[in-house]
Amino acid sequence: MGNCWGARIKDGSPHPGASGMFSKSGGKDGSRLSGCSSRASSASMPPNAKTECEILQSANVKVFSFSNLKSATRNFRPDSVLGEGGFGSVYKGWIDENTLAPCRPGTGIAVAVKRLNQEGLQGHREWLAEVNYLGQFCHPNLVKLIGYCLEDEHRLLVYEFMPRGSLENHLFRRGSYFQPLSWNLRMKVALGAAKGLAYLHSAEAKVIYRDFKTSNILLDTDYSAKLSDFGLAKDGPVGEKSHVSTRVMGTYGYAAPEYLSTGHLTAKSDIYSFGVVLLEMLSGRRAIDKNRPQGEHNLVEWARPYLTHKRKIFRVLDTRLEGQYSLSGAQTIATLALECLSYEAKMRPSMDAVVTILEELQDSCEAEKHQEPKAATKQMSAPVSGSKSSRKPRRRSLGGTKETVGTNPKSLAHSR
Ligand SMILES: Nc1ncnc2c1ncn2[C@@H]1O[C@H](COP(=O)(O)OP(=O)(O)OP(=O)(O)O)[C@@H](O)[C@H]1O
Ligand SMILES: [Mg+2]
Repeated sequence: MGNCWGARIKDGSPHPGASGMFSKSGGKDGSRLSGCSSRASSASMPPNAKTECEILQSANVKVFSFSNLKSATRNFRPDSVLGEGGFGSVYKGWIDENTLAPCRPGTGIAVAVKRLNQEGLQGHREWLAEVNYLGQFCHPNLVKLIGYCLEDEHRLLVYEFMPRGSLENHLFRRGSYFQPLSWNLRMKVALGAAKGLAYLHSAEAKVIYRDFKTSNILLDTDYSAKLSDFGLAKDGPVGEKSHVSTRVMGTYGYAAPEYLSTGHLTAKSDIYSFGVVLLEMLSGRRAIDKNRPQGEHNLVEWARPYLTHKRKIFRVLDTRLEGQYSLSGAQTIATLALECLSYEAKMRPSMDAVVTILEELQDSCEAEKHQEPKAATKQMSAPVSGSKSSRKPRRRSLGGTKETVGTNPKSLAHSR
């Protein structure tokens, strides 16, 4: 097992490079936030923090050598890159199902290999947090960590391969491979992701995820959703405490307002991020999109007034979904998103409550499907008057190229 530094996991002490409230750092488009909350009791060590050795020893995963992962990805060939994040590049590789030894492409099982850019302590912390959490958890809505590599300066993570990639690509990329996700599939993905988050918040896991966003929701062949990226996850508050004080980390556009202003992190911060993602699914718009006209850059601010009015929600709904949803279904989701986005954290629902609402909606859709075909006439389209002038001119193609990544609401803090 690699070298154990004996370092304790805490994201308390500010990264040496961070200055001011939110210093931009790392992130593939530089929008991850890194900052110190003025009120964060950042130096305090969580009582249950494990040493690096303890984490690596207790992780229930395979330890890979660097040379094996080099072979599995054919020397990290550029054409095997699945995506890039602030942490580094993610490559597709192949390993034998039983021995987990590297094998020829197309044989054995496909894996996703994430290689950390060699970038110092913060990247290492996040790498270790990933091993810590994913090395213990096993849930159908969390991506499976197969193993890791810690060798000299190399830090890699090996995950199960998710054939349909991220929700981000399906919602925002244009191109023949990425057809717009249907309403039913969006609801399925929302439910799967909600279950993953509900598990993290459960008494069993007691974790605050802190980085809920579309690029961290990965999709299986059948569009089952799994959460990935636990680099920013934190143990939830223990005992009398209602929150954890931390450096402010996460992704612009997704972080809860009270967390941004105080550094106080609760599970309700995740619920806010869930609301943002729900709104992205509803609207097909990114949380932050500087390519949109003035007043529409921030999705939550722009959409909030429309969500409170029954007929106005059409202004928010993705035009590509027309004819696929029922009015009541769309209203349920809009109301749910609005509740998750409540300014007051206490007013936000729990993830269990969110799961229940999404399940009920799915059940009612199933029931409708099995009714007479006439039920299809209940599916709503946006009123002609609403769709014409108010929406079409606002839509802008984000394209499918690298430049579009620059408009992503990327990470607030990863000093990656
Ligand atoms: N297990 C996986 N299977 C398939 N594709 C994956 C897997 N993990 C990651 N990817 C792809 O690689 C991309 C980059 O992932 P990564 O988690 O490094 O960055 P990100 O989430 O896009 O951004 P950030 O660094 O801000 O979190 C993902 O968006 C996804 O398309
Ligand atoms: Mg990610």
